[in-house]
Amino acid sequence: MKNAFYLLRWPLLGLLAVLAACETTREQAPEMTAPVLPESFYNYSNVEMPFGAARDFAIGGMVVDQQGLIDFVTLPSGSENAFELQNVTDAGATLGRVLFYDRQLSINNAVACGSCHRQEFAFADGRKGSEGFGGKVTPRNSMGIVNVAMNNNLFWDSRIASLRQMVVQPVQNHIEMGMESMEVLSKKLAKANYYPPLFEAAFGTPEVTEGRIASALTQFLSSMITANSKFDRGQEDNFAAFSELEKMGMTLFLSDRAKCASCHSGPNFSAPDGPGDPYGGSTVKGTANIGLDLLYRDNGKGEGQFKIPSLRNIALTAPYMHDGRFNTLEEVVEHYNSGIQAHTNLDAKLTGPDGNPQRLNLNAMEKSALVAFLKTLTDERLVQDPRFSDPFR
Ligand code: HEC
Ligand code: HEC
Repeated sequence: MKNAFYLLRWPLLGLLAVLAACETTREQAPEMTAPVLPESFYNYSNVEMPFGAARDFAIGGMVVDQQGLIDFVTLPSGSENAFELQNVTDAGATLGRVLFYDRQLSINNAVACGSCHRQEFAFADGRKGSEGFGGKVTPRNSMGIVNVAMNNNLFWDSRIASLRQMVVQPVQNHIEMGMESMEVLSKKLAKANYYPPLFEAAFGTPEVTEGRIASALTQFLSSMITANSKFDRGQEDNFAAFSELEKMGMTLFLSDRAKCASCHSGPNFSAPDGPGDPYGGSTVKGTANIGLDLLYRDNGKGEGQFKIPSLRNIALTAPYMHDGRFNTLEEVVEHYNSGIQAHTNLDAKLTGPDGNPQRLNLNAMEKSALVAFLKTLTDERLVQDPRFSDPFR
């Protein structure tokens, strides 16, 4: 039981680790329908960066240049987030797309990455907990996948510092647990007739290897860039298309009164966690305790601290918080307005001058304004983009 729980908390590791069991059962891959792919590859490596957003994206080791070409730079040694990712290629990301949606990555061919990270929900799940391969439910809420290559910390407890670590480390951990199982995954995938050509296109030869699987998935995840919201477009014309309510919400969001932007900051409205930032540091951080409970059932990074998540596409990724406790953005705003609990580790920003949890005393219009502003962060193009859609249907 404990083991199953553990697996579900580490979704990728779980998926891969589970293949260890294949070793003994020698489960044959059933006939899988082949994915339907475009005649020539979609363009993943040369992304259109709308409205000059490119300038904002030279963070975390990932650079999108003026032409929108994705490239990864190795940061100076000793910097927090030294990616050594290879560049995204169209063939590599295409293979990654197929892997992302392929249920063969689970032992009983029941779940794919895309089962819990669904495009229509900006790659969140739409449910409180997600259903894993055995029908068990993850204790934490599935997160939207948002400009994930630019993240300094991943998962609700920020336990992993970068996408590279996320995709490669589970594989390496798994080698520690028994090398054969990754080979079994590779062999299983090699049996599906659609894979060898995809691997050949991506890597020059048809061999299916764990390193290639990790690389292709990384390339696909890296190419999922979301930067085309009403808010992004507003950068160009001083938010001319914003309603009065949205403008009021933006002002509040940025204000010292609501302090939202002091935690949800930068181009991704996520933790200011670079080196030298308030939530950065030598260990993986970017977490805060926002007083959801006096006593946490899940302590996250410790002491009820959880990742300060990106707010991009937030209108699509309900329910909210690490445990999906809030169904609406109105409930979230009400939490910050009147619901903060006096946890001993409550972030100092959320206490008032008297040392008690803040009470923002927002009026009804101010609350709707904050919600209206949050809704301007939705990238409608992302959720319809065929490049990120499920090729198996
Ligand atoms: C059973 C559901 C499920 C499956 C299958 C699944 N995930 Fe997840 N994913 C989750 C949950 C739940 C979290 C949050 C877990 C946590 O914080 O402990 C998460 C978190 C993530 C994150 C971190 C996002 C961030 O911003 O911190 C990434 C990236 C991710 N998953 C990618 C993948 C990939 C790639 C696959 C397939 C190899 C996959 N997931 C399969 C449920 C799932
Ligand atoms: C002290 C830092 C901090 C401040 C200030 C802050 N947040 Fe957050 N926010 C967080 C953390 C941490 C979480 C995740 C908490 C959890 O899941 O336990 C979060 C979660 C959220 C979520 C849900 C995200 C998701 O994917 O489920 C929304 C929406 C949100 N905050 C909006 C706001 C707004 C609006 C304000 C201003 C009124 C604000 N936040 C102020 C740290 C902060």
